[in-house]
Amino acid sequence: MAAARAAVVCGLGTHLPSRVVTNSDLARELDTSDEWIRSRTGIGQRHIAEDGTATSDLAVEAGQRALKSAATSASTDAVDAVIVATSTPDHSCPATAPAVAARLGLGIVPAFDVAAMCTGFLYGLAVGGGLIAAGTAHSVLVIGADTYSSILDPEDRSTRAIFGDGAGAVVLRAGDPDEPGALGPVILGSDGTGSELIRILSGGSRDPIRPEHTERADPYFRMAGAQVFRNAVERMAEASLEAVARAGWALDDTDVFVAHQANLRIIHAVADQMRLPRSRFPVHLDRVGNTAAASIPLVLADAVTAGALRPGHRTALAAFGGGLTWGAATLTWPDITPV
Ligand code: COA
Repeated sequence: MAAARAAVVCGLGTHLPSRVVTNSDLARELDTSDEWIRSRTGIGQRHIAEDGTATSDLAVEAGQRALKSAATSASTDAVDAVIVATSTPDHSCPATAPAVAARLGLGIVPAFDVAAMCTGFLYGLAVGGGLIAAGTAHSVLVIGADTYSSILDPEDRSTRAIFGDGAGAVVLRAGDPDEPGALGPVILGSDGTGSELIRILSGGSRDPIRPEHTERADPYFRMAGAQVFRNAVERMAEASLEAVARAGWALDDTDVFVAHQANLRIIHAVADQMRLPRSRFPVHLDRVGNTAAASIPLVLADAVTAGALRPGHRTALAAFGGGLTWGAATLTWPDITPV
């Protein structure tokens, strides 16, 4: 029998739009304050795309950088599949990934979107890893990219305080399960009984927006913040524990927990629930907010740059999002340079 093929992370790239919107900027428009946002979420600012910038524009930038990062750190096969995790595609159809693959000059490759909201990057990693394990692909570019500014209600202070735009990507290549960067167990879950807690009501097949109905359509992202908060803590803690256990690691020997950056209080509650020091959970949301599917690769790159995540670190990833969806994964951090 052929040796098991693992998917190995060999490149990491990120991109943030240049425009920064601080809490004080928001407070000039909305009934909120820097103090409220910082104390309730840990967020100080977010990057917001200029009008006319679409998710694919951010995805292409991050994808290019991930390819560059992979080229400097490993001899890789050409990327032969592209996955874009996003809940803010350029258009309802077609998927965003084929256009991204074409703009990256990757030729005729399978390319598709994964729609798992803030868990999308982890779902994308799982699917990319599966393509490699099955021999369908040798090297997969997995991009998490979102432009939440395009779906937020300009008057909704609870969502505008939280979300920012951005993109992050990794290159996966076929390799050995024991080498650094090899994806370990991936835990995925969903519970559609909570689908109404995070959603956009109108614009899909359930409530299409037709010109004659525009006055009763709600095209904006809506979230039941407090219920989402509780579910996010429970699910990320549970999934992380399961992933670490399935990897055969002791919890105490797991060096870094990279949690989806939704709210600092959520990250701290996950650490507390797992009885782990909060210092093992890198924080990036103070500068970028919740960047949805881009969050995990963005915090990974930031933690590497800050020296908090180093080659050889036993690393757990965890995310939670609309659907409801959640997931966790483990890997030993490889020696790669984020671009
Ligand atoms: N500035 C000031 N007040 C705000 C505010 C803001 N930016 N956002 C919400 N509020 C207000 C609410 O309007 C509410 O006022 P009311 O009591 O007069 O109605 C009050 O704060 C409490 O709202 P609540 O939603 O209970 O607050 P909270 O402590 O739960 O914080 C969130 C709100 C959105 C920050 C928090 O629920 C959260 O982070 N939830 C998870 C969101 C998330 O991570 N979503 C993505 C999942 S991937």
